[in-house]
Amino acid sequence: MSTLTKTQYDPIKYKTPTGNKLSCKGWIQEAALRMLLNNLNPEVAERPDDLIVYGGRGKAARNFEALDNIIKALKVLENDESLLIQSGKPVGILRTHKDVPRVLISNSQLVPKWATWEHFDELEKKGLMMYGQMTAGSWIYIGSQGIVQGTYETYAAIANKHFRQEPGVQSTESGVQSMEPDSRLGTQYSAPSHHGSLKGTLNVTAGLGGMGGAQPLAITMNEGVALIAEVERWRIEKRIETKYCDLWFENIDEAIDRALEARQNGEAISIAVLTNAVCLLERLIERNIVPETVTDQTSAHDPLYGYVPHTINNTQATIMREQDPEQYTELAYASMHRHVELMLELQARGAIVFDYGNNIRARAHEFQERQGPDSLLPTIDCFAFPGFVPAYIRPLFCEGKGPFRWAALSGDPHDIAVTDFTIAKLFPENRALLRWLELAKEKIAFQGLPARICWLGQGEREKAGLAFNELVRTGKVKAPIVIGRDHLDTGSVASPNRETEAMLDGSDAVADWPLLNALVNTASGASWVSLHHGGGVGMGYSIHAGMVIVCDGSEAADERLGRVLRNDPGTGVIRHADAGYDIAKDTARANNLNIADRIK
Ligand SMILES: NC(=O)c1ccc[n+]([C@@H]2O[C@H](COP(=O)([O-])OP(=O)(O)OC[C@H]3O[C@@H](n4cnc5c(N)ncnc54)[C@H](O)[C@@H]3O)[C@@H](O)[C@H]2O)c1
Repeated sequence: MSTLTKTQYDPIKYKTPTGNKLSCKGWIQEAALRMLLNNLNPEVAERPDDLIVYGGRGKAARNFEALDNIIKALKVLENDESLLIQSGKPVGILRTHKDVPRVLISNSQLVPKWATWEHFDELEKKGLMMYGQMTAGSWIYIGSQGIVQGTYETYAAIANKHFRQEPGVQSTESGVQSMEPDSRLGTQYSAPSHHGSLKGTLNVTAGLGGMGGAQPLAITMNEGVALIAEVERWRIEKRIETKYCDLWFENIDEAIDRALEARQNGEAISIAVLTNAVCLLERLIERNIVPETVTDQTSAHDPLYGYVPHTINNTQATIMREQDPEQYTELAYASMHRHVELMLELQARGAIVFDYGNNIRARAHEFQERQGPDSLLPTIDCFAFPGFVPAYIRPLFCEGKGPFRWAALSGDPHDIAVTDFTIAKLFPENRALLRWLELAKEKIAFQGLPARICWLGQGEREKAGLAFNELVRTGKVKAPIVIGRDHLDTGSVASPNRETEAMLDGSDAVADWPLLNALVNTASGASWVSLHHGGGVGMGYSIHAGMVIVCDGSEAADERLGRVLRNDPGTGVIRHADAGYDIAKDTARANNLNIADRIK
């Protein structure tokens, strides 16, 4: 692919340093260096030769020259300076002070009128931009584990909502879901207390990339059968090797037969099939099979480099992308329209269907709009199934919960075991969390630096951060711990087809919130802060911010951790309270975040 890189990832040159010796002038710079290189570690990144970490063409650095220069800059960066990164390239080192971020990152920002993939592609070809996705360009991707818990929680919420196993009762509810926002989501939603189970259900999806690769494991952790279409053999093999997926077939019917047998027997098993998503859904419909759930995690957000049309094979796709990108894009759009049409057909037949954050509904809608009413294309209601956030995740955001994660800079898995133990001791009443830690320990293979994901909320994150800093200070772990989160979080994103879909007050497209989030984290002393555009759903569809903070054991770090880990989720609680969600209002009041109480 032509994303301005040559095939030259060098595993020795770019090996992530581990242990407790510094190669930079402070632990914050060192943490940034290790996390940048960890993002690109071949165990972690999807395509290190293209500097692509995950999510279509989500990159950690613009090109290899920029990567080398970032490494050099981090090594000379003083403890009262900040490094500026503009779309994956280091552009300046400025004097700031010790309690502000050492690195400030802006990725893929375009003035709204120019915020299209076409304009981005032109700039990328000229070497002026890169696509940062979410955690790729902000150096806090930790492999598929980073998404496993979110995917696990989503499927747990589906199980609780639709397949609750009361004594003597199996599954019940219809798959048709309401798109109406509800201020009392808290009463409607049952936090994953795990009464529900996907046992005996067939869950069909597609895409086994960096994020999508978490789906099979998340489904089997919820005791269901996963049947997943993927067009690239090496992606399937990677998920099998890392134990995220159990088995795979080349033949669609054999895969379906094995999945049906597993559904019948109540087996928890994940089955990949080497085929296009469209072909799998067509075959299911031909055979009159209705899965319990249907979604998709192909990279539909990026029609050129992310989605493979069902009308061509992979070799043709690679050639056409380079030689005729316009025709490729058109085929991809047509295929995504067909894909959504099939998802709607399965919904009509009774499946629970949802968009899993890749913007496939908008792609189908854009194509249909462009074709116009006189075309032969069947007219479909592309947004007739909901996104996963309003359907299952928003109540967690209202409590300031989101994909909090940390990594052990020592490289020693024992350090993560120590942090797991600490978390379990800190939150003994949180049974869902304890169950997650047990499952994670048992089922998740580390990729690159040992790391853990844990959806913690308002109040919990600062407790965890301060406890980890104490572990570093007292030598209970062998080197500092780095804490971060996905941009898919409570207060850090405006994305009307995903995180902010169907907000109660209609503020879906208001992007002041992620900007405030980045400013607050900068003012509070995060270790590095990033502001991105287009992550998850593609150019023009989202603005979002990231933050990372290092526990180096110092007292100054205690101060910074206390501020950042309170204020960062705090912006999310405030955002949702402002939109009118009662759970968020309660959380704000309980955590002294309610401005009305301050100014009365
Ligand atoms: N739900 C979430 O929480 C969440 C979080 C982050 C990203 N995402 C979105 O999910 C999508 C996937 O992310 P990723 O990191 O796995 O991307 P990726 O680019 O690493 O992987 C996408 C996979 O889809 C496969 N694929 C493409 N078209 C296909 C088709 N028609 N049929 C079958 N397979 C096909 C590709 O071969 C690839 O393996 C992206 O759009 C991303 O923005 C969702």
